[in-house]
Amino acid sequence: MADGIKFRIDGVEIEGRRGQTILEAAEGAGVYIPRLCWMKGLSPAGACRLCTVKVNGRPMSACTQPIAPGAVVDNDTEELRGWRRDLIDMIFVEGNHFCMFCEKSGNCELQGLAYRFGITAPKYPYLFPQRELDASHPDILIDRDRCILCGRCVRASRELDGKDVFGFVGRGRDKRVAVNAEAGLGDTSALAEDRAVKACPTGALLVKRVGYAVPIGKRTYDHRPIGSDIEQPAASEEG
Ligand code: SF4
Ligand code: FES
Repeated sequence: MADGIKFRIDGVEIEGRRGQTILEAAEGAGVYIPRLCWMKGLSPAGACRLCTVKVNGRPMSACTQPIAPGAVVDNDTEELRGWRRDLIDMIFVEGNHFCMFCEKSGNCELQGLAYRFGITAPKYPYLFPQRELDASHPDILIDRDRCILCGRCVRASRELDGKDVFGFVGRGRDKRVAVNAEAGLGDTSALAEDRAVKACPTGALLVKRVGYAVPIGKRTYDHRPIGSDIEQPAASEEG
């Protein structure tokens, strides 16, 4: 590889290309690094911190950190699995995520991560936030109770759809996803086919009338954990 950069993940040497991030190079070598705000084809945001790895002993987000020759990266360690499990636990109680009643159930990356990390019940008390639902669009709705503020819809709308329908307003606990029309989503140029809608990793942005389409037992993560499509040669169990 002309521009090859060799480094190690969990003791295994892998080779990536100059300009790749740790997450991208790892993925190319069949190593799954958990992620939520990262999505192939979008600029990285470094927002969720789920992809945190240790690089030469220092915590860094794998989706934004470029690879460097000779770097020693820890990914699948007990400590990092614990951090990630805690983050997922916090995301669950910070919003209202009741998987069994959610139209996205079975096709949700947050739920897939909970399965993978063996999370079956909340570890922290629920915060029960009250957030505005926007069902003004004939074909799409926003349930902000399930929004994890990953920003994938924001970036996908801008970078892939060329629309800029979504953005963030507010700060801290009041931060929420907003749309570029006073009257709500129904007054925007958003369409159900937009990449922004498909980019949502949870049930926050939903296409109407297609919920619960796949029966339990046949859903995406019912038999193979999230990330197993990346891992080689076979899916490993975490959690
Ligand atoms: S609506 Fe979905 S894609 Fe957009 S920020 Fe919230 S969770 Fe992420
Ligand atoms: S996937 Fe890297 S910070 Fe979210």
